[in-house]
Amino acid sequence: MNAIQHTVESLRHTFRPDQVWPFLAPENAKVNVDKDIILYVEGLNLSFDGFKALNNLNLYINDGELRCLIGANGAGKTTLMDVITGKTQCDSGSVFFGQNQNLLNKDEAEIAQLGIGRKFQKPTVFEEQTVFDNLELSLKTDKGVLATLFSRLTPTQIDRIDDVLKIIGLAKHRFMLAGALSHGQKQWLEIGMLLVSDPRLLLIDEPVAGMTPDETERTAELLTSLAGDRTVIVVEHDMEFVRSIARTVTVLHQGSVLAEGTMDQIQSNKDVIEVYLGEQEEGATS
Ligand SMILES: Nc1ncnc2c1ncn2[C@@H]1O[C@H](COP(=O)(O)OP(=O)(O)OP(=O)(O)O)[C@@H](O)[C@H]1O
Ligand SMILES: [Mg+2]
Repeated sequence: MNAIQHTVESLRHTFRPDQVWPFLAPENAKVNVDKDIILYVEGLNLSFDGFKALNNLNLYINDGELRCLIGANGAGKTTLMDVITGKTQCDSGSVFFGQNQNLLNKDEAEIAQLGIGRKFQKPTVFEEQTVFDNLELSLKTDKGVLATLFSRLTPTQIDRIDDVLKIIGLAKHRFMLAGALSHGQKQWLEIGMLLVSDPRLLLIDEPVAGMTPDETERTAELLTSLAGDRTVIVVEHDMEFVRSIARTVTVLHQGSVLAEGTMDQIQSNKDVIEVYLGEQEEGATS
């Protein structure tokens, strides 16, 4: 064996094609979902000045499911999302992403890096930038300021943005300023800004508030299409919308899970009618 053959042989030995080096593996691969559960929330407690916003809350979310979270104002829905994403610390309990990632000892950036994307109720797109630029910026946010300013998109990244534009139905509006989009389109763009980094779990808070009926229907189609490959948790008060997308619905009440089941089971549950759905109907008629 000459020197070159020897070098090639040793390189082949070093870079084994059957092996993915840990530092090259995508962050998402580090989440163990062997038990088909992607999120474990157990015994979660959080008080604000003695008021229990979360009260021994237990919740398990299956990998790939689309789960709807409902409950009256102040039930703890947004607070739960705040704890899962590291925005707020809880007093006690545990939150695991897959079997192995303890989210309570991670900060917001680390949790996002693991593949958890969160959309707040109000759209926060950059109005002065085009739709495409908004997606480009969110693709690069983890690269630091200089890299964001000077780096060019790779062909793979451009393909990714094109795919996302199609998924969110804004391909024709790619060069439009985000500020010129309708409210619903801004919400879709913001979902797209999460999708460019290919999250594994999406937490979406009240996506259809303020949307037209047509936009609401298209949002239902969008979120339904995202589940399966990803897991989606949606908080929403619009019961017609929840019925159109939900397989399993979880009802929160005073920081705990009050009921869980199909929409039919939930809508005929006496406790749920008493504390939430009855109140909603009164609200609708007044
Ligand atoms: N930072 C905070 N300081 C004090 N109280 C808070 C804080 N965040 C939330 N709360 C309280 O915790 C309770 C739960 O609030 P949360 O926002 O989670 O409700 P929600 O279920 O999302 O309600 P909504 O449907 O109105 O959005 C409320 O009573 C709220 O006032
Ligand atoms: Mg809320």
